[in-house]
Amino acid sequence: MVSNENEYVLVCKDISKAFGGTQALKSVQLKIKPGEVHALMGENGAGKSTLMKIVIGLYKQDSGSMTFEGKPYQAKGPVDAIKAGIAMIHQELNPEPHLSIADNIFLKREDTVCGIFLNKKKQNDRANEILRQFSFPYESTTLIKELTLAQVQMIEIIKAVSSDARLIIMDEPTSSLDSEETAHLFRVINDLKSKGVAIIYISHRMNEIFEICDQVSVFRDGMYIGSKPIADVSRHDLIEMMVGRKVENVFPKIDCEIGDVVFEARGLTGKGFSNINFKVRAGEILGISGLVGSGRSETMRAIFGLDSYESGKIFLNGKEIRIKSPADAIAKGICMVNEDRKNFGLCLLRSLRENISLPNLPKHQPHLLIDQAREKRECEDVAKKLTVKAASIEHTAYSLSGGNQQKVVISKWIMANPKLLILDEPTRGVDVGAKAEIHALMCQFAAKGMAVIMISSELPEVMSMSDRILVYHEGRIGGEILRSEILSESVTEKDILAKAFGGVSG
Ligand SMILES: Nc1ncnc2c1ncn2[C@@H]1O[C@H](COP(=O)(O)OP(=O)(O)OP(=O)(O)O)[C@@H](O)[C@H]1O
Ligand SMILES: [Mg+2]
Repeated sequence: MVSNENEYVLVCKDISKAFGGTQALKSVQLKIKPGEVHALMGENGAGKSTLMKIVIGLYKQDSGSMTFEGKPYQAKGPVDAIKAGIAMIHQELNPEPHLSIADNIFLKREDTVCGIFLNKKKQNDRANEILRQFSFPYESTTLIKELTLAQVQMIEIIKAVSSDARLIIMDEPTSSLDSEETAHLFRVINDLKSKGVAIIYISHRMNEIFEICDQVSVFRDGMYIGSKPIADVSRHDLIEMMVGRKVENVFPKIDCEIGDVVFEARGLTGKGFSNINFKVRAGEILGISGLVGSGRSETMRAIFGLDSYESGKIFLNGKEIRIKSPADAIAKGICMVNEDRKNFGLCLLRSLRENISLPNLPKHQPHLLIDQAREKRECEDVAKKLTVKAASIEHTAYSLSGGNQQKVVISKWIMANPKLLILDEPTRGVDVGAKAEIHALMCQFAAKGMAVIMISSELPEVMSMSDRILVYHEGRIGGEILRSEILSESVTEKDILAKAFGGVSG
């Protein structure tokens, strides 16, 4: 191919990388132009994050080369990459909770006198100036641990932008942002674009790719499939490039018979939510929509015994119960998949088998010893059902791609076979194929008579999967929508958003 490499800000040529027996990248290509928002797409485990980590020097490729701004480029590590002009916002956030916002923004590029003394005041002032530019509502001295996941994500973005990078890699940046925060991020991206900054944008959300990106490159199983202008591809083309086959129905909701009330919350009030009343029946999928921070997760955490609630009652199969802890909830038949898989969902350094088996130990340990053959068989079975991409269930959870980690989190609760299954953002970071599989599984659970609650910030997902939707607004339930209203299109995406914002339409 004849092309002038100088027109590109970054060129990756024939990059290969293996981890033990896993060939994560097989001679892949990537070419990014200045001022372009370039989507990098592919199923879970396709190798997207691995290539990005090579670009910023976290991993070293086995073969292949790169150029940055026309010159040979190879970073020894992220600090080196930032110095060269490349910043990355990681898929799994890694902030330092005990540092202040300012310390985080300037981590490893502190303003020092003679390389020793830190000019704290100057650093805080500079950070405040940057925060104001982004209308971030906190002072630079606030500690990271006081922020929500979405705010921490915003700080990561601010950090990358303020490092004066000419290329910013965003690995699933909107995974914990709500629609308003996402819109804000898109404004920031457009602004960067107009300044000639290039962005590599990794996301499984099709809507976002079509809204913000100019060009798309697709990887499949560690291989480079192709690159096209967004204007020249349809959703279907993209899915086909990613999975190598046609995926007909992305959200295959199967209607099942809806039975008796399994769970009821009456007047539930606690930190972040008040007077919550709802019922969920056997076979029903209850979708919960609303903005991030509207009290959805807080309510579910209280029901699962992760937090306590102040007043109100909960009933399971018509009997009032009190949940003292998550262990108590699991014993009574309530399970929950947490939205924050890294901190609450997985033991990253343990094997997949141990992770999946952990909440199911009573089952695998009928007597004093664990029935290892049964444990292995059942774990393999569940992992296969969800197509977890790993060479063996003895690998650590850490070595899996983000989406595959999420599948492992779901796997472990599936085995527990609960009466009520609460899923908080179950398909965050999960690719189209696996998403369809998780949705199909949810339908199967419902068909078995399980009651399912699904919190999701993705409107198309809630709208297609739920029998009923509750919309949260500022800690209260601000509206209820039935499946029939969605099917007849008397309620649209816009109406749900309006309810989430407190009833103001438009
Ligand atoms: N540190 C590691 N050790 C071992 N294997 C790894 C490691 N990092 C990645 N892999 C493997 O390399 C492959 C590619 O993973 P990668 O994280 O790049 O996928 P991805 O395209 O970013 O997927 P996702 O959409 O799920 O984030 C996977 O099979 C993964 O298990
Ligand atoms: Mg990834």
